[in-house]
Amino acid sequence: MNEIKNKDRRDFLAKAAVAGVAIGAGTNLFGAVNKPNIACKGWAAFDESGELRPWKFERRAVGDDDILIEVMAASICHSDIHTELGHWGKQIYPQVPGHEIVGLVREVGKNVKNFKIGDRAGVGCMVDNTDIATAGSEEQYSKNTIFTYGHPYPKEPTGISQGGYSDYFVVNSHFAIHIPNELSWDEAAPLMCAGITTYSPIMKYMKKGDNVAIIGIGGLGHLGIKIAITKGAKVTAFTTTKSKIKDIESWGAKAVLVKSSDDLAPFRAKFDFALSTIPYEFEMEPYIAMVKPFGSFTLVGMPINFSQKTQTLNLASTKVNLNASLIGGMKETAEMAEFCAKAGVRPNIVKITGEKINQAWRDVVAKRARYRFVIDPKSF
Ligand SMILES: NC(=O)c1ccc[n+]([C@@H]2O[C@H](COP(=O)([O-])OP(=O)(O)OC[C@H]3O[C@@H](n4cnc5c(N)ncnc54)[C@H](OP(=O)(O)O)[C@@H]3O)[C@@H](O)[C@H]2O)c1
Repeated sequence: MNEIKNKDRRDFLAKAAVAGVAIGAGTNLFGAVNKPNIACKGWAAFDESGELRPWKFERRAVGDDDILIEVMAASICHSDIHTELGHWGKQIYPQVPGHEIVGLVREVGKNVKNFKIGDRAGVGCMVDNTDIATAGSEEQYSKNTIFTYGHPYPKEPTGISQGGYSDYFVVNSHFAIHIPNELSWDEAAPLMCAGITTYSPIMKYMKKGDNVAIIGIGGLGHLGIKIAITKGAKVTAFTTTKSKIKDIESWGAKAVLVKSSDDLAPFRAKFDFALSTIPYEFEMEPYIAMVKPFGSFTLVGMPINFSQKTQTLNLASTKVNLNASLIGGMKETAEMAEFCAKAGVRPNIVKITGEKINQAWRDVVAKRARYRFVIDPKSF
């Protein structure tokens, strides 16, 4: 997947050079003619150091199918950190991360039917598709989908998609959802990735009354617990951090502190479904053994180089359905937001200014986030 992405980038940069595209120079070759690009302030990575700095840049002018969003909140996903550190492949910088974005619609293109000025909109991990008619309802699996940051994207003045740690955002309106009024901006932002990434496999593999294991209780995991409980599961949460136990219990789940695989042995064949959000490679066998024969185990955590080993015998002898899942489609994302709004599922958030982003990233990696950092773009 990385190789394909890198090849696409090389192809694009080569074509751009031939076509004389002035990357980053604010030209508007691909957007609407005679409309100025959108001047933006954001926080960007400039290299693989993991340190972000303020950056002024331009987004494309609002095209016929686009909406312009004034960003009201953008939250920090561990994927932002993996990407900018180069865990998933070489990046093009400067690059603005962020794919949990909510805000007010300030402009709409002439073809846009699903939004009007003043609507509340949310954007997750996808922003466009070069052949939208073929994208289907699970757009994340379409080969033509443009992901929210770092993706080669000729429409953008910088040549790549630029993410949501920014004051304004331009997106093809198909890739935005309506944010229900029950949700505040800060509550809504984390749903745009963490919410849908846990909701989608829960809806696919879990039924009411199931025993469910959620493994790794950070941004994704804590929403996974709340969604699964609200959908009628009996949830056990596996954490390596003692100080999270009280929170986990307050959300209605049983908490298990994992110091070694011995702590997992009592749970052998106890769960119908397990969901792992662990962001780095881990010893999977004792976790898989916790799932009942013919149960499901979904990985949403994405380790360095997407590399995660397991043993075939372990899977064969338990007949557990091991799979991995990528966010969710736009229709399901809208359904998830409505569900969370109506059912009272809310993320636990800590609000920060731009200056605090670098410290927040260090806190996420050190498992100190409780449980999603939400950035205030008005501080940029
Ligand atoms: N598949 C998708 O579509 C998708 C979408 C979004 C994110 N992701 C990926 O999902 C993962 C989690 O994202 P997130 O934002 O929820 O991260 P997060 O907030 O950092 O939460 C991850 C949690 O996993 C546990 N953990 C961290 N490092 C660990 C390690 N080395 N060994 C064991 N447990 C560890 C910690 O929980 P405890 O303290 O409870 O142990 C941590 O809080 C990342 O890899 C991210 O890239 C995937």
